[in-house]
Amino acid sequence: MTGIPGVGKTTVLNELRVLAEQYRVNLTVLNFGTIMKEIMRELGRDVHRDDMREQEIEEQRKVQALAANEIVNRVRQGTVVIDTHMFVRTAAGMWAGLPANILEKLGPRLLVLIEAEPEQIASRRRGDTDRRRDQILAEEIGFDLEWSRATAAVSAVATGAPVKVIRNDAGRQKQAAEELFETIRKLTSVQP
Ligand code: AP5
Repeated sequence: MTGIPGVGKTTVLNELRVLAEQYRVNLTVLNFGTIMKEIMRELGRDVHRDDMREQEIEEQRKVQALAANEIVNRVRQGTVVIDTHMFVRTAAGMWAGLPANILEKLGPRLLVLIEAEPEQIASRRRGDTDRRRDQILAEEIGFDLEWSRATAAVSAVATGAPVKVIRNDAGRQKQAAEELFETIRKLTSVQP
């Protein structure tokens, strides 16, 4: 599951956890950034989660691969939902969050894009005062949404996984989670 910073991925996933408990579905949510942060700390680099994208790209690439291994090893049953990014804005440029080597390791059955209106995303970022978010303009957010879709299309071709676009409009995080939950249920009721 992916979406640009501040679109509300974590908020929707918190609602998804509630639904999974309610319907007794074995579902685990893992945050890719949190696992990268833990790995960086183990490597002796205690970096704030919002500063990870500022690190040398080769270091990020190494930690990204270790995080994917960790995810594969951590959960071996049930449905695993990974909270992550189609791309990360780094000093080196727009860098894929799910490049080919990571997609191959994770083998996703579904790719999800969470979207909202650019103005709403900008306003959510401004409201998150405990985070060091890039305060970019709504037009630039529009570009990032397009870039996410383009990257998702490439990932869909590479993996054969469908791409589901889910809107997280103001006050509608529960509905977004319900849509995601239903999509997962339909997909997992048919075993490969
Ligand atoms: P990550 O933790 O994913 O950072 P993020 O994108 O900033 O994610 P957040 O959880 O902070 O934001 P969100 O979009 O989930 O929004 P939220 O729910 O908080 O990743 C951290 C870092 O890890 C990345 O920057 C990168 O460096 C690294 N990383 C991650 N994956 C990687 C990968 N694959 N490869 C390489 N590096 C990777 O909501 C925001 C606000 O909006 C909140 O205040 C919330 O209350 C509000 N809100 C949400 N939904 C609604 C709604 N429907 N109505 C009203 N308000 C809402």
